[in-house]
Amino acid sequence: MTGWKPVFRRTRQARRLLYCGSLGSVSAQMPKTFFITTAIYYTNSSPHVGHAYEMVLADVIARYHRLKGEKVFFLTGVDQHGQKVQQSAAKAGVPPAEFVKGISQKFVDLAKKLDVQYDDWAETISDRHKKVVRGILQRLFEEGKIYKDKQAGYYSVRQEQFLTDKERGPDGEFGPEWGEIEFREEENYYFRLSQHKDWLLRYLENRADAVVPDFRQTELRNAVEKISGDLCISRPKSRLDWGIELPFDKDFVTYVWFDALTNYISFAGYDPNAGAVATGLRPVSTDRSSESLGTAHRAVATTDFDAQPQEFRNKWPALQVIGKDILVPAHGIYWLIMLHAIGFPDDQMPQLLVHGWWNLGGAKMSKSAGNIIDPFVLAGRYGAEALRFYLMNDITLGRDSEFGEDRLVMHHDIYLANSFGNLLNRTLNMIQKYREGRLAPSIDFRKIVAMHEQGLEAESVEMNGVANLASVAGRQAILYRDNFDLFAANYALHNAIEIAVCGNSLVEVSSPWKLAKDMSDESQCTLDAVLYALAECLRIIAILISPVLPKAAHGIFDQLNWKMELSAKEERFSLADVEWGRLPDGHVVGKPVPLFPRIETSG
Ligand code: MSP
Repeated sequence: MTGWKPVFRRTRQARRLLYCGSLGSVSAQMPKTFFITTAIYYTNSSPHVGHAYEMVLADVIARYHRLKGEKVFFLTGVDQHGQKVQQSAAKAGVPPAEFVKGISQKFVDLAKKLDVQYDDWAETISDRHKKVVRGILQRLFEEGKIYKDKQAGYYSVRQEQFLTDKERGPDGEFGPEWGEIEFREEENYYFRLSQHKDWLLRYLENRADAVVPDFRQTELRNAVEKISGDLCISRPKSRLDWGIELPFDKDFVTYVWFDALTNYISFAGYDPNAGAVATGLRPVSTDRSSESLGTAHRAVATTDFDAQPQEFRNKWPALQVIGKDILVPAHGIYWLIMLHAIGFPDDQMPQLLVHGWWNLGGAKMSKSAGNIIDPFVLAGRYGAEALRFYLMNDITLGRDSEFGEDRLVMHHDIYLANSFGNLLNRTLNMIQKYREGRLAPSIDFRKIVAMHEQGLEAESVEMNGVANLASVAGRQAILYRDNFDLFAANYALHNAIEIAVCGNSLVEVSSPWKLAKDMSDESQCTLDAVLYALAECLRIIAILISPVLPKAAHGIFDQLNWKMELSAKEERFSLADVEWGRLPDGHVVGKPVPLFPRIETSG
């Protein structure tokens, strides 16, 4: 399999793939929290559409899990240390701490603008985070898993790393992607990465869905085979001081990955001292003075995962949403090995959900390429929901997509305005006009749907259409679940769109305006059945689109005058409610208000 296919029927494989890390080891007493993270965003420049995509994707998956009735913990945030930030701050002429405040706020604003509903916000300059990073580094140092060494070689200033012969191109030169190259000799601290290579290979061998989609797992496996050296985890302060000071050497800060990756556990309640406390060992000091710790490495037991606070164990492991550029080596190698080295068992490894890129002009949208699109501008112009919908609908998870503002407008007009908006508007108009807003099902839907599913014809084309709509809604709701469980939001959206298409075609097939003119019992009864079926399918559509289009879903419920006691609250929607027939006999719907006016004609 090289990507996703929409689910048309349930397969054993689909069920098996349902397993995801967060469901791995559910404690007997407490329902497990579904924990989802995004990467944390560099605060060297403002957010663009690529960042918006990742945030919205994680938000949509989080909302889907809440829709299933699960407790969710959604963590996102910002990566505030490092060379790039230090440089950007210097360029702007402000201290890094002040600089990151401004950019971090833009990411917070973006989340707000796009209705990204996170539960905690990671900021790597916070004390809470620094304490955990230092605790982990100290422990690994005491266990001899971190050591000091001297390195001499070619160094890429742009990528901030030493280069080896592997990085040379076929012509023997380092490619332009590395920017300026200089020869450097430097002492640094190293994490013993390579000694865990066999473990990582075994782990990937034993867990087929450690990385999703599976072609990314293959890519990771191939990269792991090539691990040869250890990981440099420090920078001398003389060169970079915007970072977390090493607890065992005040002349160095930790560099990039030990700082950034640790956020996933530091903001979830992880305690680096928990194992030591449980085994009676001296808790790790995060004292800045290296003297107080002695120079000899002591053999210390790795942190005992089971000794972690309940708050942490109840959430972990997470589903981690990341872009394809930070799978290898950052998350797939460094992160998994770091967790293994601090004592996380295999069944507590996170699952990595790897998305592709939004490109512009065929290249990854990025500040350095100068081809960024501002999500604030788009959300201001078309609305947050139109942008959320486009970002979820015009890309297949795992693959790249070319961003097009014209495509955003097209998706809005075709799906939101023509399918959902039109169906809502005409349905409510007709219910108001022909029935003064009051619904009366008039038939036993279970019977008519059962007949329909056995291939038996109802007595009229109209009633066949009604039965068809009810059975399509039921089927698509099941497939929707399967698609979402495979993280395929675009296919899940299409399940909802299918229902809307079917609803709109029922309007055409049954011509309620003709039925309304015929006062025979049969026509009036058919009209009741048609109007009820249309209202009911809108109720179901609202539930299904709620993870992607929360505001529109509330709009539909408001207009249906449904669950008004939970107005604007997320609990208003539950996947358990997609069962056909929940609108009671005699229910009175509200007045239609255009939900998605067409952009092309209205603009
Ligand atoms: N700070 C690091 C990640 C540390 S995670 C512990 C980083 N930051 S980033 O701001 O450059 O990227 C953050 C996320 O945004 C990554 O997952 C990246 O793939 C994603 N995207 C950045 N540009 C993107 C696109 N053009 N398209 C889709 N996602 C992209 O890397």
